Amino acid sequence: MRLPRFDPFTDAFRAAPDAVYGAYRGAAPVHWGKSPATRARGAWYVFDSDLVRHVLRDPAFGRETHRGKGNDKGSGPAATLPLSLVIDNWVMFRDPPVHTRLRSVLSEALRRERVETWRADCRRLARDHAGVVGAMPVFDLVADYAVPYAAAVTGLVVGLPSTDSRFLAETAAPISRLLDFHPAPGVQPAAASAVQTMTRYLADRWEQSDGAAHYALLPALKAAASEGRCSTREAIDSLILLVATGQATLGNLVINAAGCLLTHPDELAALAADQATPERAIEETLRFESPVQFAGRVVLNETRVDGHRFNRGDLVLCALGSVNRDPAATDDADVFRLDRDRVRHQSFGGGIHACVGVNLARMAGAEAIRALAPILADRAAVWPRRPWRELALFRARTRLDLIRPGRDHKPEPST
Ligand code: HEM
Repeated sequence: MRLPRFDPFTDAFRAAPDAVYGAYRGAAPVHWGKSPATRARGAWYVFDSDLVRHVLRDPAFGRETHRGKGNDKGSGPAATLPLSLVIDNWVMFRDPPVHTRLRSVLSEALRRERVETWRADCRRLARDHAGVVGAMPVFDLVADYAVPYAAAVTGLVVGLPSTDSRFLAETAAPISRLLDFHPAPGVQPAAASAVQTMTRYLADRWEQSDGAAHYALLPALKAAASEGRCSTREAIDSLILLVATGQATLGNLVINAAGCLLTHPDELAALAADQATPERAIEETLRFESPVQFAGRVVLNETRVDGHRFNRGDLVLCALGSVNRDPAATDDADVFRLDRDRVRHQSFGGGIHACVGVNLARMAGAEAIRALAPILADRAAVWPRRPWRELALFRARTRLDLIRPGRDHKPEPST
């Protein structure tokens, strides 16, 4: 059967991406499909584990889209020029040598030992947030737990006052929407305005920080700037990126982990009975319901992949959600199980752009689930009819009400 052009912007994909991935992966490892860049004629999608690993690591592929041709990042109306200037300092959109320099500053600031110093505070934050929702007869896992927890963690690790958490959550949301596929017309201006607000806020905090060597990100980046490893502007723009990506992805990871556990009560029971660890629940969630579905590259030098000619400037999207369900890479790939010897996934991408927040994501995600598990075990979910985010890059439910069974509502079956 001839498959239609791959299109991740459909209701069918949103409802069951694994089924759509399976059909395309089964037919061929590489397909031409609809591009997230509105003016481009299409994009390559790669569905197979080995090829994704190859594309993410091959220097024929990069991230500086303006060095290619045929897509619309980097240009735009004058009103969004300040936004373009900030984005130009975001490590994820740069190639070496700028990427190498910025990446070394961020990797050091987010290294494992530093992340471990935040664990006790993250555990406390998770317990506090769980305490609040645990006392509510009905709560929305997304708005009442995952989003505020992710904002609180981000504020903590950047070194911002806890009273600013709500401001951070509200200001970061339009910026992270900019990073997703197919931005709607209002997204760029909203992100531009949020970036200006966030820049002013962080610049004030930067002035107030004495840069003393303690373990938060803002002083760490201030120290790097004073050593000449990056400019002040690059450091502040990088903090905006960390706040926006960190909050969105961490929140989505917690939402997806809770969703997976609620739909797999035996695994939730094992976790609540300490027969499985929250770390394992996070790792299996990253594989089974990947919060980031694609890692993008642009072709810098013409090359061939699986017999297709990839031209300079073509956009290539590595379908992480597909490779994580590839039966060639994982036994029972379509089953959510906490008893695997080893969880194999590529949810953090790979090569020089592999996620720099990986240690923080794992630690803060596990702490969130550790505190939430006993509450989940005691609740029933009210499954909404259109549960998933509209856009395709970041995958998570947008709302999930949890009730005490026998009270208030009757749970509906999942659609
Ligand atoms: C919670 C789960 C998370 C997931 C699933 C995730 C996933 C990803 C993926 C797929 C990439 C692109 C990799 C590539 O292109 O090969 C990426 C890059 C990145 N992530 Fe994450 N991420 C998460 C959390 C975080 C957090 C908490 C932060 C920051 C505090 C963060 C900061 C970044 C940055 C700055 C990059 C760009 C790195 C570069 O280009 O060198 N991420 N992440």
